[in-house]
Amino acid sequence: MKKFLITGALALSTALCAPAVIAFGGPDASPSEATQSALGIGHNFEPLRDAAERSGRTLGVAYAPHLASSDSQYRSIAEREFSIITAENAMKWDATEPQRGQFRWTEADAVVQFAQDNDAEVYGHTLVWHSQLPQWAANLTDPAELRTVMVDHINSVAGRYAGDIAAWDVVNEAFEDNGSRRQSVFQRVLGDGYIEEAFRAARAADPEAKLCINDYSTDWINAKSTAIYDLVKDFKERNVPIDCVGFQSHLIVGQVPTNFQQNLQRFVDLGVDVRITELDIRMSTPPSAANLATQAQDYRKVFQACWNVDGCTGVTLWGITDSYSWIPQVFPGQGAALPWNDDYSTKAALGELAEVIGAQHVSDPDPDPTDPTDPTDPTDPPGDALCAVVPQVNAWNTGYTANLTIRNTGSVAINGWELTIGLPEGHQLTQGWSAEFSQSGNDIVASNAAWNATISPGNSVGIGFNATYQGTSADLGPFTLNGIACDES
Ligand code: XIL
Repeated sequence: MKKFLITGALALSTALCAPAVIAFGGPDASPSEATQSALGIGHNFEPLRDAAERSGRTLGVAYAPHLASSDSQYRSIAEREFSIITAENAMKWDATEPQRGQFRWTEADAVVQFAQDNDAEVYGHTLVWHSQLPQWAANLTDPAELRTVMVDHINSVAGRYAGDIAAWDVVNEAFEDNGSRRQSVFQRVLGDGYIEEAFRAARAADPEAKLCINDYSTDWINAKSTAIYDLVKDFKERNVPIDCVGFQSHLIVGQVPTNFQQNLQRFVDLGVDVRITELDIRMSTPPSAANLATQAQDYRKVFQACWNVDGCTGVTLWGITDSYSWIPQVFPGQGAALPWNDDYSTKAALGELAEVIGAQHVSDPDPDPTDPTDPTDPTDPPGDALCAVVPQVNAWNTGYTANLTIRNTGSVAINGWELTIGLPEGHQLTQGWSAEFSQSGNDIVASNAAWNATISPGNSVGIGFNATYQGTSADLGPFTLNGIACDES
């Protein structure tokens, strides 16, 4: 039984051994129950990563392997929604090299394994940082020794995962708010050149990974972000390897900078990618309704800033549910910073960000393939459903874009579909979306994607394609769904 409703943190902590479950989702389920699932109450979207992928971006999450082991709901959401995984702590220096030359890989390996098992990328975080740095390293005073230690650490960690990491935060939080260098042990002992040395070592250890510099309070145009801008510009001019800049974006409700997008764009214009790497938006707790409403708009703004910039590779959320967020420990009296509440109900923020990235609504985001009473079981044979297809064609002289709405006009769910679209002579499919497309003669065949396989009675899914044509761009059709002719209205 995969579908369950867990009420509150108490039930959450016992979910594995004795799940407090209330079954729902069967034929008698009320509409409100029908949107409750292991993915979070109120979540009725396709996997968010699928929407991000359609615009060539990734949606990421800070991930802790021990939470995935102890909390199946955390795990389910991490598996379903995210296409790039950042280790929340497992790849940091204190986790990987707690004693000099003695490496511990169990947790970091688990992060990489989880990502690979779920066809997700890994975002490496982080190689050189003053925080979560073991005392033995923080106490070094001899430049030659610290240089060796830093390069050995980079070689060991980046080398171990070479080929498995999409991007590394090579250096984290190297600047003060006023734009000066942070007086970390690396800065004090090695001087300004340590950042360049770290990036060169990282490139040598993993030539495939993109190499990023990451920081906080850099989301708007200010002294700190300008210091990083100047560093990137200098690196680019001197061919020092650097590929990307991470903006942590640990934000406060109501304070999304107005020039966020402009700031991202100026970095992209230098020839690097940008990413929102650690998004959360905190407020005083308990949260007020007004703050939650503002926060939802704030999430929208941050995602929109990224989605508006070519070269912004995506957004990573710094966690899933408030119950494990780092915020209350570090900012006492604050929290409620993530899109999922303590009990995994979703905040308005989730709906806003889903809308920005173009996530489609689904009637059952969490179909249970093993439950014979689940009306949306994807293994059910297709029903004898009736269908309607409404085509909308925008043509130019040599081609057109067709958007099709497929509606289930019958009384049983369609579980898995194949739509055959008749074409006039001389039309050639060039690209399709939201389905698998192929062309055979004068027919295009569109098969459901995993996330839109089910069309409940009265519901619709949208798909589309581009085609070129010679001669006429006359009406498309006929349309048949699983062999059944569809109405065209
Ligand atoms: C935080 C983690 O979320 C906590 O679990 C840990 O105790 C402290 O670090 N900037 C970063 C992240 O780059 O690594 C930090 O993560 C949050 C601030």
